[in-house]
Amino acid sequence: MLDVEALDAYYGKSHVLEAVSLSVGGGEIVGLLGRNGAGKTTALRSLAGLVQTRAARLAFDGADIRGLAPDRISRAGLVLVPDYRGVLAGLTVEENLRIAARARSPFGLDEAYQMFPRLEQRRANSGAALSGGEQQMLAIARGLMCDPKLLMLDEPTEGLAPIIVDEIVDALKLIRDRGTGLSVLIVDQNLDVCLAIASRHYILEQGRIVHAATSSELSVATEIQQRFLGVDAA
Ligand SMILES: Nc1ncnc2c1ncn2[C@@H]1O[C@H](COP(=O)(O)OP(=O)(O)OP(=O)(O)O)[C@@H](O)[C@H]1O
Ligand SMILES: [Mg+2]
Repeated sequence: MLDVEALDAYYGKSHVLEAVSLSVGGGEIVGLLGRNGAGKTTALRSLAGLVQTRAARLAFDGADIRGLAPDRISRAGLVLVPDYRGVLAGLTVEENLRIAARARSPFGLDEAYQMFPRLEQRRANSGAALSGGEQQMLAIARGLMCDPKLLMLDEPTEGLAPIIVDEIVDALKLIRDRGTGLSVLIVDQNLDVCLAIASRHYILEQGRIVHAATSSELSVATEIQQRFLGVDAA
């Protein structure tokens, strides 16, 4: 579904990603991990066409997406749910969802409310009145209504209370287990969240991929966890 080879990314003269190669298969959920400043957000923004990049190969759904504008990439089905969530404060929950919706998407307003009942309860509330968790649910639902083939999630559980983290993890598991074939590339500082949802992981360190592992490998690789993720030994 997504095939990246030797991707370099730049902010002006600053060279942030170096020779990043990764892939995400159809229906696969893959985690992208790493410490603060490792380049995770830059990687997702690069794939979404929002950062200046160079790559040996950048193929999505069989097409070369190098140099495409962000809206073309999104319309091709590579959809980013950014870390800042991007909820429009002056619109209601339902308006936020409706303006994002693409007509052909099998995931509509009903599906969004089914997945996140909190959003239905808050449908007439303004975006400004939402909690952090509700904003994140809205951001994910909006991403799903864009008819993605691959959804990229940047820190979907950052700063949220454990009970809300569980709700979001459950929703993502639902997407995974429904067998819709949707692929997901998830960035999260919470290793347990990534392990619970994704089957495979890449670890970024200073803009380079330094490790790749399956969930079962990574869950017992305490040395790797400490070295690259700063996870304390239990
Ligand atoms: N707009 C920008 N202009 C210049 N440098 C940037 C910009 N955004 C990020 N950087 C730099 O690029 C590097 C990677 O940042 P990035 O935000 O991708 O990391 P991250 O892994 O997402 O970190 P975090 O866990 O804090 O979200 C950092 O050194 C950061 O300072
Ligand atoms: Mg980030």
